[in-house]
Amino acid sequence: MAASARIELVEGDITRLQVDAIVNAANSSLLGGGGVDGAIHRAAGPELLAACRELGGCRTGAAKITGGYKLPARYVIHAVGPVYRGAAQDAELLRSCYEQSLQLAADYGVDSVAFPALSCGIYGYPIAEAAPIALRATRDFLRCSPSPQRVVFALFSPDYLQVYQRLLAACAE
Ligand code: AR6
Repeated sequence: MAASARIELVEGDITRLQVDAIVNAANSSLLGGGGVDGAIHRAAGPELLAACRELGGCRTGAAKITGGYKLPARYVIHAVGPVYRGAAQDAELLRSCYEQSLQLAADYGVDSVAFPALSCGIYGYPIAEAAPIALRATRDFLRCSPSPQRVVFALFSPDYLQVYQRLLAACAE
């Protein structure tokens, strides 16, 4: 199956998705925060924070994995996106988050993984710049790897969904 055909777009709350793994937009402490991070910790319960404490933090651009506890997902992959500065390095770090998260999913035999729009909330990354990076990194990875079989982008607003829909349609043409 073509890489783009393994990508799915949904609007809604990532914590409710029936997928094997969800990706968290974490900070480098991995000890929780606002936005999707807060929602994931609330839905997973306090065991998630206890598991995160064992990880010793995470560099920007990298990702680490824990269980999903009370979530429908079996795993949470905690990725630390860059705070947007408008520098060339932002894009490299954001791409690296997607690559490392997908590599962890593959290493753990995950069939389906869902991403939020990493860095596009509190960290200020413009969606128009971040979405092509997310989709390109994912397509490039899927072309070289049979796992994960399915990648879902869970967008939290109709506007963000539309940006992804346009890009995905353009690359399927
Ligand atoms: N499901 C899917 N997407 C969501 C959800 C949800 N339940 N809740 C929010 N979003 P953000 P960042 C969207 O701010 O920019 C935290 O404090 C949101 O609308 O969660 O990477 C961390 O601890 C936006 O489109 O993450 C860090 O300190 C996207 O998720 C910092 O925020 C990402 O927004 C990370 O900032």
